[in-house]
Amino acid sequence: MPLTPVIALQLSVDGCPATLWLKLESHNPHGSVKGRTALALWQDVAARVDPEFGIIESTSGNLGLALAAVAAANGVPFTAVVDPRSSASLVDAVRALDARVVTVDEPDGAGGYQLSRLAHIRHRLAAQPRLVWPDQYANPASPAVHTRETAPELRAQIPRRPTSVLVAVSTGGTLAGFRDYARAARPDWELVGVDVVGSAALGAAPGRRVLSGIGASRRSAFLPEGHRPTVRVTPQEAVSACLWLAKSTGIGVGGSSGALIATALRLFRAPSRRTSVACLCPDGADRYLDSVYSASWRDRQGLDPVDVGRGVEIIAVRRPPHHLSAPGAARSAARRAPAPGDPLKGRS
Ligand SMILES: Cc1ncc(COP(=O)(O)O)c(C=O)c1O
Repeated sequence: MPLTPVIALQLSVDGCPATLWLKLESHNPHGSVKGRTALALWQDVAARVDPEFGIIESTSGNLGLALAAVAAANGVPFTAVVDPRSSASLVDAVRALDARVVTVDEPDGAGGYQLSRLAHIRHRLAAQPRLVWPDQYANPASPAVHTRETAPELRAQIPRRPTSVLVAVSTGGTLAGFRDYARAARPDWELVGVDVVGSAALGAAPGRRVLSGIGASRRSAFLPEGHRPTVRVTPQEAVSACLWLAKSTGIGVGGSSGALIATALRLFRAPSRRTSVACLCPDGADRYLDSVYSASWRDRQGLDPVDVGRGVEIIAVRRPPHHLSAPGAARSAARRAPAPGDPLKGRS
């Protein structure tokens, strides 16, 4: 029984049929794919956690919420080290689970706050060596849970035909887990890493980033050689794809899922047209109401939505039987589209 549902969008893209599969990781405990990661990290460190000192982790929000729940269930204190870009509702939810929240607001000089968050953790560990840091950035338990659970789950949920599988990157744990699964099980997948412009996760130079949850200030320890193929998306495209999906289907996804969907639409239009693309959507719209889904936030960031849905018509939305169907959800967003080059060509 899969943990999370897959919704199939039957599309016509510039008149050609295509299927977009959305695996909604928002249906995990604690609302994101990090529900899986948190349990795996906890199982890795549990034996050495001192209930008096507990655990500490750097997080943009999703892992913090999931770890706060796991720590509370196991009766140990937890400190989430977050930054000003973390969703306010997520941070409130972390506090509601009795976790301590430290907000590090010193920019790290690499487009975000990640390096400053990590410096804070190192400082705390030096002062209190009995504190345990699961280290989501390098702990092999993170990719392993996706090799063991998430990737085979997706494979069982979609037909066995050539499919581009799109995975968003921050620590690189999810993508590395999918890569290891694909190497061993050899599904007919083109595994595509999706990152944002300004992220160093897969080897590019770091720069300013505005979306929370996707991208990183430094190279992924799980993918030191990067990943091919990788697509880098602008925040404008990611945000626009979120708005397009919400408006045309009623499905609300987070910013990194928007980056995946924007990439999928590029692949459907590429000269070597993909016809089946699956997105592992890490979380839902609920934690982005004050960012991606807020017009004033978008204005402040200078993110004018662009028409990512040009030339795309949604023919049908198929949900697993236990999820609500959405009559009337299929709506045309059809307009002429210029055919861009192959978005994967020459990318690393
Ligand atoms: C919002 C969001 N985007 C992207 C990712 C992918 O992250 P990672 O590369 O750390 O596995 C996650 C992971 O859970 C996430 O929560």
